[in-house]
Amino acid sequence: MTAKIAIIMGSTSDWPVMEGAAKTLESLGVAYEAKVVSAHRTPDRLVAFAKTAREQGYQAIIAGAGGAAHLPGMAAAMTPVPVLGVPIAATVLNGADAMLSIAQMPKGIPVATFAIGQPGAINAALFAAAMLANQDPALAEALDNYRAKQTEEVPEDPRG
Ligand code: RP5
Repeated sequence: MTAKIAIIMGSTSDWPVMEGAAKTLESLGVAYEAKVVSAHRTPDRLVAFAKTAREQGYQAIIAGAGGAAHLPGMAAAMTPVPVLGVPIAATVLNGADAMLSIAQMPKGIPVATFAIGQPGAINAALFAAAMLANQDPALAEALDNYRAKQTEEVPEDPRG
């Protein structure tokens, strides 16, 4: 399967959060590649990745970063492929810094911003899958099944 989604992150320390996106895509049968691409520590790797993202066939990039979190915005500046940003709680500001850095892109270069941490990573994967599902009926069905299973798992009785 050719990877349709790239999952990038600023550090190996982001993986426990971004693994939520990877596992979600796996459960839906969506191929992805995961890479560490740091905007400030490996800027050449970022340029090489982002400038070739479209020709590599990626249809969305899920980008997780903590702190000043410039990775999603810098990637978006170098590719027309949609970038979905996931703020990571990596500093004493608990991810509020990353969330604002990712959300407050100046006009002209959009980055979609998701919740801080693993809920955001999982939702970014579901959102990317939903975009692909517009052209992929089997994936649309997989997403319907995901929601149906989630609904079934909620007991009405609060005691479980
Ligand atoms: C950011 O700095 C990364 O995205 C990570 O969230 C944070 C801390 O990185 P490490 O010091 O753990 O490598 O660039």
